[in-house]
Amino acid sequence: MKQTSQVGIIGAGPAGLLLAHMLHLEGIASVVLEQRSRADIEATIKAGVLEHPTAELLKQLGVGERMQREGYLHRGIELSFGGKRHRLDLEDLTDGKAITVYPQHEVIKDLVAAVLANGTRIEFGVDAVRLAALESDQPVIHYQRDGAAQELYCDFIAGCDGFHGPSRQAIPQALRQEHAKVYPSGWFGILCEAPPSSDELIYAQSDRGFVLVSTRSPTVQRLYFQCDPQDSVDNWSDDRIWAEFQQRLANQDGWQLKKGPIFQKGIIAMRSFICETMQYGRLFLAGDSAHIVPPTGAKGLNLAAGDVVLLSRALHSHYRRNQQDALDAYSATAIQRVWRGEHFSWWMTNMLHDFEGEDSITRRFRRSQLDYVVKSRPGAQSLAENYVGLPFDAWIN
Ligand code: PHB
Repeated sequence: MKQTSQVGIIGAGPAGLLLAHMLHLEGIASVVLEQRSRADIEATIKAGVLEHPTAELLKQLGVGERMQREGYLHRGIELSFGGKRHRLDLEDLTDGKAITVYPQHEVIKDLVAAVLANGTRIEFGVDAVRLAALESDQPVIHYQRDGAAQELYCDFIAGCDGFHGPSRQAIPQALRQEHAKVYPSGWFGILCEAPPSSDELIYAQSDRGFVLVSTRSPTVQRLYFQCDPQDSVDNWSDDRIWAEFQQRLANQDGWQLKKGPIFQKGIIAMRSFICETMQYGRLFLAGDSAHIVPPTGAKGLNLAAGDVVLLSRALHSHYRRNQQDALDAYSATAIQRVWRGEHFSWWMTNMLHDFEGEDSITRRFRRSQLDYVVKSRPGAQSLAENYVGLPFDAWIN
């Protein structure tokens, strides 16, 4: 069946849904195609930190109500190393900014509800998605739904289909400028039934590797420890997991990790990836289809939001003012904020993780860097400014 829309959006993740919602508010029609089911995308556990600009954006767009009610504003974070915890007062260091702990799948639920309430169509469970005629005035998305062939003709395609989706692959390889780095570690993440061990997130460096103490609700904790990315969750009994956390979080100030029944375990790979070519003809990439960060700074969703702000503005200029400049500049503009987030995530990762085979000087540099961040106000400010999120507009020339 042949259908048309102004913008065809591939992927109902944070980037695709946010874009569909923003376009609707600007009077631009879109259709969203998603491979997975609604239940599946609404239940997939990802990170849980919204930067200040992202939280503000969700409020401005009218989709922040539940986030404000159920999310947690964190005004600081803790860095733990050498058996001691050190608090960074984000609010004080950034002129009043903070982060919101609100899980990504809750953001997804809020956005799906808003997009459907707008009357925008989201087609779930589509298959065999293929992009064509990207250099023409009417690109097309071929796909299948319930075994039947479908075509969506549009003015523009937004590739919001994540790292493994077909959109980036539709850009000829010779034109794609890509940079990639895979880390020799992963994160072992658990959810457990226990109240928060700390009012704020704790990023802990230890000789046995990194630990993050995060939270989800008054009764659920989210905890991670650095692991071998090839390891299997089957090798980790609950007792072994708790023993590992205890050893890595050993401290001299009497602080105790709260334990409880573990109900979810998983291993996350860590990579940095940037496709600098975020546009090809009438295809525009946003979010994980163009860039991946290691989870250490929780930047993934927040970088996607920055892309979408620029892309929706550029599409607005095209449709309302007949101006192409912002669309033409999209890739070069969006990539600047992406590089900042990528560098910060790499920097946080290196400061907090121990990697096998490292020399002793690298380990001592790490400790010196941590000392600098907690002892020097400019050092702390640099971390805090990046952590709460740089303004979307700081990167527009
Ligand atoms: C999480 O709560 O899942 C989380 C928090 C902070 C991070 C990464 C993940 O840096």
